Amino acid sequence: MLIHNIGILAGIQPEGQLRLEGTEQGCTGILENAWLSITDGRITGFGPMATCPCHSDHSEESLLDARGGMLMPGFCDSHTHVVYAGSRDGEFLDKINGLSYEEIAARGGGILNSSDLLHRTSEEELYRESMPRVEEMLGKGTVALEIKSGYGLNPEDELKMLRVIRRIGQSVPAAVKSTFLGAHAVGRGYTHEDYVRAVMEMMPEAAQLADFVDVFCDEGFFTVEDTAHILEAARGLLRPKIHANELAVSGGVQVGVQYGALSVDHLERTGEAEIQALQGSATMPTMLPGSSFFLGLPYGKAREFLDAGLGIALASDYNPGSSPSGDMRFVMALGCIRMRLTPVEAFNAVTLNGAYAMGLSREYGSITVGKRAGLILTDPGWDLTKIAYQYQTPFIRRVFL
Ligand code: NIG
Ligand code: FE
Repeated sequence: MLIHNIGILAGIQPEGQLRLEGTEQGCTGILENAWLSITDGRITGFGPMATCPCHSDHSEESLLDARGGMLMPGFCDSHTHVVYAGSRDGEFLDKINGLSYEEIAARGGGILNSSDLLHRTSEEELYRESMPRVEEMLGKGTVALEIKSGYGLNPEDELKMLRVIRRIGQSVPAAVKSTFLGAHAVGRGYTHEDYVRAVMEMMPEAAQLADFVDVFCDEGFFTVEDTAHILEAARGLLRPKIHANELAVSGGVQVGVQYGALSVDHLERTGEAEIQALQGSATMPTMLPGSSFFLGLPYGKAREFLDAGLGIALASDYNPGSSPSGDMRFVMALGCIRMRLTPVEAFNAVTLNGAYAMGLSREYGSITVGKRAGLILTDPGWDLTKIAYQYQTPFIRRVFL
């Protein structure tokens, strides 16, 4: 396929650029008035219209006139909990009435509520309930996503979730990475210690299905010591991606970096020590402004991270309790509006750095010859600033998967 008359080709990166940090995150390659070719699902070339090979031997079906629209890499959403059963809209009223995330959880709502619902839901039904959410995300421009377990909270139901995630990955044309989040909350019927041990024991089987391991390392959930034990059990099997510093300064960032985590996520509550721990590491700090928005939590200090020379990714955290939306364009807009990222910084956070945070940046996240053609073509008139600024107006003409 050859796409021509592209108004703006955005997100061009050289081969081998796997993430962007510090001031680099504020830059991206742009070509105006361009063409791009795709063969067997991969980008095979691009350039200015003056060099367009469009008049050679292209049939009508394989030639697409972009009519001046912007072509950009699709969104790479590195943190979601999109496989869940039922809904938690009942807790929405509690939240409106002023109860905090922790208070709702303490009253039997929260993660354990989702876990009870999931326990009563068959594997087939769980797949059928989750797929429309994934399809909605793809329609909104997500081309690669990570999905976590963590509502099973016993060996049988955790593995059920991981199988559903695998099946979703086999059913959609997007890239799907899977994370074992057995340590999301203490499962019903276990003591805290027994459950940590059970999660460690689940590891070898989970590793057959998952790509990564996650622990909710935060106040009221799992301690730094629990996290270290679980990551020890995962050593050589699954690389960590850690939930850290959402509810408190938890020490989760440091333990994540210590165990070579690919990402540490949330980071609503961080200081200088967390920034220092991340410097020089391969760990991508990942912020989830959709959950700050929904829960009324502080936003991550994205500017301070960038000013310290770090890169950041942004992800949706799509889940029924803290972020019931997988709209990455809105995430990008929140990055600009509430975290004072420039549109290009936010764009890189939801594309290349998001891809890095799930080990996919050799394949996704930028316009680079050889990468998968997971792309968004916009209607005419859009650019990277406008999609974040005019954040509710439909902008997508077509998503390439
Ligand atoms: O990333 N913080 C922990 N886990 C999810 C919320 C899960 C839930 O409430 O169902 C999160 O926000
Ligand atoms: Fe999460």
